[in-house]
Amino acid sequence: MVQKLPVGILGATGIVGQRFVQMLEHHPWFEVAWLAASDRSEGKAYAEAARWKLKTPIPTKVASMKVAPANPSGAPKIIFAALDAAVAAEMEPRFAEAGCGVVTNSSALRMKADVPLVIPEVNPDHIKLVECQDWRRGSGGFVVTNPNCSAIGLVMALAPLEQRFGIETVMAVTMQAVSGAGYPGVASLDILGNVIPYIPKEEEKMEEETRKLLGRLNGSGIVPASFAMSAQCNRVAVEDGHTESVSVKLKKQARAEEIIEAWNSFSSVPQKLKLPSAPERPLQYLISADRPQPRLDVDLGSGMTTGVGRLRPCGVLDWKFTVLSHNTIRGAAGAALLNAELLKAQGYMK
Ligand SMILES: NC(=O)c1ccc[n+]([C@@H]2O[C@H](COP(=O)([O-])OP(=O)(O)OC[C@H]3O[C@@H](n4cnc5c(N)ncnc54)[C@H](OP(=O)(O)O)[C@@H]3O)[C@@H](O)[C@H]2O)c1
Repeated sequence: MVQKLPVGILGATGIVGQRFVQMLEHHPWFEVAWLAASDRSEGKAYAEAARWKLKTPIPTKVASMKVAPANPSGAPKIIFAALDAAVAAEMEPRFAEAGCGVVTNSSALRMKADVPLVIPEVNPDHIKLVECQDWRRGSGGFVVTNPNCSAIGLVMALAPLEQRFGIETVMAVTMQAVSGAGYPGVASLDILGNVIPYIPKEEEKMEEETRKLLGRLNGSGIVPASFAMSAQCNRVAVEDGHTESVSVKLKKQARAEEIIEAWNSFSSVPQKLKLPSAPERPLQYLISADRPQPRLDVDLGSGMTTGVGRLRPCGVLDWKFTVLSHNTIRGAAGAALLNAELLKAQGYMK
């Protein structure tokens, strides 16, 4: 039997931390060996500390594990992180400095010049940036990030269009699920029967992360993609799944069939390497006029496939369409897990 690599989860009790626990339960390469969260949870059994919100039960082995203090002593060398950005900004570098490979969901370090922001299907080559990190040269530790939960669905849909036709302009309007705000997140009195047209810093993150993800690795940095982009972000009363209405202007003319074919045939490094969490189809075009919908389509490809639909001409730009992506799976824990699998496949995790 192949020995699994021990991994730790920082922020294990939160919404994303719980997804990590769930997705790692039967993972063929990684095994949860350490869990940490805030002082509130430290010392408690995981089942007592976490307000478990997922439909599957807490894995038995994890339920009785003690939540450790959030510091690197005693932590394994591979850390999945799901901390609030303010906490992550201070804590993730400490773990990297102590020699840990930190694979994180937090926005704290995403835009740092030497920190790769990666979607394995889109920019797997950006992983090489870790070689420029002082942590890597010192202790061997490093930090790799995955994008914001609304940027990832958008970029998945844009990547094949950028590759085949080139992108000139993007406009995106999001309808984001409440689970995207963590737990307890948005108060029920604020969101029930309502739409909140403001998510702090979300529009800025979508715009800058999209350009970094579709940018070009240039030695020790990323040259961001140069297209114009505008994002508007809304919180809606949906449990899981971020829906986005997108318009694009392309550099080359494209027919609808060519765009749909570009989405449906999109396949990349994770599929070639058969990484355990890679969906067979990273993108799936749904032909019904009223799809994708979060309630019906959020679990496409076990939450790792991005749904696209409603492609039609746009009166202002060239084309418009709808994107749906599972925010805590493809947009968070699943994204980090796929990054870790790519890192392991490339020899960064032993
Ligand atoms: N939810 C999503 O869809 C999503 C998607 C992409 C990215 N993200 C990002 O992922 C991160 C986690 O999000 P979330 O939704 O899981 O948030 P959450 O439900 O609020 O969970 C936060 C976690 O951080 C821990 N924590 C808080 N302060 C700490 C401290 N001082 N030291 C150690 N641990 C501390 C909490 O532990 P306690 O339980 O002990 O308080 C909890 O485990 C955030 O940066 C978020 O922006 C979230």
